[in-house]
Amino acid sequence: MSEEFKKLPTHIAVIMDGNGRWATARGLPRAEGHRVGTEAVRRLIKACVDFQIKYLTIYAFSTENWARPKEEVNGLMLLLESVVVNELESLDKEGVRIQHIGRLEALPGNLADKVRHAIEVTHNNEKLVLNIAWNYGGRDELVCAIKHMIQDGVKADDVNEQLVSSYLFTSDTPDPELLIRTSGEQRLSNFLIWQTAYSEWVITPVLWPDFSKEDLRQAIIEYGNRDRRFGKVSSSASK
Ligand code: IPE
Ligand code: IPE
Ligand code: MG
Repeated sequence: MSEEFKKLPTHIAVIMDGNGRWATARGLPRAEGHRVGTEAVRRLIKACVDFQIKYLTIYAFSTENWARPKEEVNGLMLLLESVVVNELESLDKEGVRIQHIGRLEALPGNLADKVRHAIEVTHNNEKLVLNIAWNYGGRDELVCAIKHMIQDGVKADDVNEQLVSSYLFTSDTPDPELLIRTSGEQRLSNFLIWQTAYSEWVITPVLWPDFSKEDLRQAIIEYGNRDRRFGKVSSSASK
């Protein structure tokens, strides 16, 4: 069922934050916040399909998150596994194409193979592209891109913004028009540092496990009311 919005972003990027605080506020272990957080992920994907969003990128595990206690890191890895294994069939049925951004090879055990399998199974789906940022860091992505450019023998004169974009993990994804961060934190935390240069930010105090379809609707409405100027003076630049 399509919804009426003034403007609909093609690509929404989400920093899913606040799982730990959600759990602590209830006297629960942080792991329980992460578990309930996966239910919010499932809701978000459904809501994006309903609202006819074409690309969704979710920040699930950063390159800095390895510094958390080992037990928490292991728990988060198991949760990713449960999403890409247990939800694969239903995501596939819903027309979701799963992609991964970040360094897949560094994931423990055969998790990388499971993610590759989910990518392979869903690669013809067209309703929604779901980019899972897992072991992702914006700076790491740029380092990776520069290394590959040098390996390919790219000449200095040929380097331009388009070329740099083509070397990023997101090479086949348009830049996000809308960036949502939950839990009230006002920072990028190394997420999509190149791609969000002109994204509109919507920061909500809602903690990630509580994030609902209605919260997404409100964020898209707020985006629709923004005057996107891209450095120009008139609102005619607005998309
Ligand atoms: C987001 O919630 C999930 C991940 C970063 C993996 P947090 O775990 O960061 O929750 P808070 O910020 O400590 O509340
Ligand atoms: C950002 O949240 C990373 C993810 C949501 C995966 P963090 O909770 O790790 O970020 P900081 O440490 O508050 O900046
Ligand atoms: Mg956090």
